Order: sequence, then structure tokens, then C-alpha cells
Amino acid sequence: MNETIHVSAPGRVNLIGDHTDYTGGLVMPMTIDAFTTVIGQANTSSVWNLVSHDEAEPISIALPIIDPHLVYPAWGRYVAGVLFEFNKIGCEVPGFTGEISTTIPIGSGLSSSAALEIAIARIAISISKIEMSETDIALLCQRAEQNASGVPCGIMDQLCIAVGRPNTATLIDCHTLDVQHIAMPDEIEVVTRFISQRTLAGSEYSDRVTDCVDIEKLIGPLRLASISDAKNINDQRLYRRARHVITENQRVRDFASALSQKDFSTAGELMVASHTSLTNDYETSNEEMDRAVQAMTSEPGFLGARMTGGGFGGCIVGIRHRA
Ligand code: GLA
Repeated sequence: MNETIHVSAPGRVNLIGDHTDYTGGLVMPMTIDAFTTVIGQANTSSVWNLVSHDEAEPISIALPIIDPHLVYPAWGRYVAGVLFEFNKIGCEVPGFTGEISTTIPIGSGLSSSAALEIAIARIAISISKIEMSETDIALLCQRAEQNASGVPCGIMDQLCIAVGRPNTATLIDCHTLDVQHIAMPDEIEVVTRFISQRTLAGSEYSDRVTDCVDIEKLIGPLRLASISDAKNINDQRLYRRARHVITENQRVRDFASALSQKDFSTAGELMVASHTSLTNDYETSNEEMDRAVQAMTSEPGFLGARMTGGGFGGCIVGIRHRA
């Protein structure tokens, strides 16, 4: 009888730094107290059989996988995407039989798919008896996500989930992949509120990535650009997109230093400024989220709030004084 393997991976919420990761900028997400759990045993076949407590249909995936995007039901594409990447790096993963459950709300912008990918990668590593750094696991899962969903996502979600610690923000430089763990001060509480279901596949997310590619052709790497560089962009839409990324990178730096100085009102103001920039310049918010952010910000004790993650729905996040 093969030994039973049990892994879990948390969801994430981004405190500040959205739509900066895919140009190598700064982000500051943290893991949340909700998890995806996978439990099961390796088998002697080369098939992955998984049931999920949260999905109607189970998956049965024969290795090696030819195209993860063709796997059905669709949730199996995230599993297939990860196994496909292991095969690409020459790792022969055995079959596995198991079950999945999650407390991360699916499709709400809290990275349930990245958590599933990281959990599957950890199972694959364990049953293949290989070693891999957390950064390489995150990069492999990012490629899996891109392949499975068709969304050209950055590294934030997978890296935060791979290296995150409870009650601790991860300040990530998405160019060098350096991570600084910043304990959340006891005086404040992070509050995440669900607004609406969303999926980034088919959203304008990839248009924003394309805009950034076009901007970088004009002014070079956005992570190194200043507002005066952006002023050389004649196209008004691209100028606003660039202004968001450049100012958002600075807000992440300022937010990290405000937290370390326990200057919580400045931290809250930076969250609101981030939301305004995402609404007006990057256009990834919507009226429902704008109203929710405004309402949260005016609730007693709250210092600031913003949309979080890819946008176009999902969740908002705020900080408030701990009662
Ligand atoms: C999604 C992507 C991330 C990041 C955010 C926006 O969560 O998966 O890589 O781009 O949107 O900050």
C-alpha cells in the first residue's frame, strides 16, 4: 500500500501592487486563511484520478499530456497544466489517485487556481522524489496557469502562495523574484470582501498585458520608467496605463515603508490611491467595486480599501484598526 500524501496551499489577497507583476514590478500580497487540500496515494498506472468536493465531475488524466487546454472537465486543465510542465522538464511523475477540497471561494479573485496548481506540484514533487526550489515551483505553476487558462498572468499569485507565511505580507520584486516577508502589524486587520464572480479568461486582462508590451517598445522597461518617460507617449490610453504601473510601483514601496513605521493612515491612503489609479488609468475596476471600496473606506475604523487582483469583479481588500 502506497503511503497517503496530504498537501495544502492557501489562497492569496493582494494588499497593493496590481498589474505590475507582468512588467517585473513590485507587489505586496499575502496568503489568506483559506486552503486547497489534496490527499491521496501514488499508483502504478500513469493516470491521475481526482475527485473534487467542489466540482460536479471527476478528472482522469493519462500521462503524458499532449495539450492541457483540451482536458475536460475544465478544472482539470490546471492539474494537467502542472503535470505537462513536469513532463517538459524531463520529470516522470507516477500516477496518483486522490481527492481535492477547498475553502477558497472559486472564481472570486483569491487565486483558487494558483493554490490548486501549487498543491498539485507539491504532490508531484513528493511522489517523484525530486527536489525543487519554491521559486522554481512557482515559475512552473505560472506556466501551467498560462497554458491551462490562456491568460498571460504574472508570477504574483503562484510565488506568494509558494513562499507565503501566515499573517505576513510578501513584498515581491517580480523582476529578480526576491521576496521580503513583512509581518503584518498587530494594530491592523486585513479585511477581504467578496463582490462578484469573475474569470480573467476572456476579460480585458490580456489587453492590458499587450498595452504594456506596446509601452515598453516606446519607453523601455516599465519597472525602470519614470513619469517623465511616460510623458513621451503620445497615445493617451497607453500614457494612462504607463502612469498606473509607474505610480503603483512607487505606492508599493511607500506602503511597505508606511507599515514599517506604523503610519497606518498613510498606508490606507495609498490603498485608496491605488484603487483610483486602477479605476481611472488602468480601467480594471467597475462601478460595483468602486461603490464597495467607497463604502468600506467610510466604515468606522477603516483606513483604506481597494480592488484586489486582476479586477473586472472579484474581491476588495481593506485595512482597519483592530478593535
Ligand atoms: C491576476 C494575475 C496576477 C496579477 C494580478 C493583477 O491575479 O494572475 O499575475 O497580474 O491579476 O495584479
